[in-house]
Amino acid sequence: MLDRVDSDHIDRAGRSVRPASLLEAMRERTKALHVTAERTGIVAELLRGRGTREAYALLLRNLLPVYETLEAELLRHAASPVTGLIVRPELNRSAAIAADLAQLDATNLPLLPETIAYVGAIREAGGGEGHALLAHAYTRYLGDLSGGQIIKKILARSLELRPEALSFYDFPAIADIPRFKDAYRVSLERAGTRMAEHDVVIEEAATAFQLNITLSQALQQATGLAG
Ligand code: HEM
Repeated sequence: MLDRVDSDHIDRAGRSVRPASLLEAMRERTKALHVTAERTGIVAELLRGRGTREAYALLLRNLLPVYETLEAELLRHAASPVTGLIVRPELNRSAAIAADLAQLDATNLPLLPETIAYVGAIREAGGGEGHALLAHAYTRYLGDLSGGQIIKKILARSLELRPEALSFYDFPAIADIPRFKDAYRVSLERAGTRMAEHDVVIEEAATAFQLNITLSQALQQATGLAG
């Protein structure tokens, strides 16, 4: 956990001033977007147990290039003193998604333009020092480690998916998810203390959420599920 007391600083007037927390700022900036992400599009349908296997497969098909790009970009920055702090191969999801798609017997599913846009945004975030990748890793990986665990149970029940088709939500290299999440938050925070451009990263987190919402809505349209 982040220790709020230890992270306090004292300013020249002797007042206690908490240094800007990148993590808290990203959470604050994306709070309302998180509610929208849960309540709209295909994600909302799946959460309500109203999805279909076909719709879920299409979601996975479209998330695959998103994770492939995110993971390739993070790997490129693995040795970087800042972005490298948040590179954790045990979070990688692309192999698991590909395996789930194979289990679902899903082939020839279309990639939506919204996916291409999302992939482009991640590539762009990976430019330069790759600091904006923090926002994309935050959005997807903390999401998978949190809401993903809830979704997994719902999908198993409502779509009658076997565990072999739900490896997206399994992190075999992570023994204790809550503890890992705390450690990952600390790493994000530490990376934040080593960069100047918090505003860019905070806005990128909002963009990442918006890209997820737009994709989720487009997938709902594409699968003809009711809104
Ligand atoms: C499917 C419906 C969803 C549910 C039920 C859900 C649920 C949750 C819950 C309970 C937490 C708090 C976990 C904790 O603090 O330990 C959380 C955090 C989070 N979720 Fe979701 N979520 C959903 C969808 C999403 C989506 C679509 C995204 C983005 C793509 C997302 C991104 C995040 C992030 C980044 C956090 C971490 C917030 C922070 O601690 O700063 N979630 N979610």
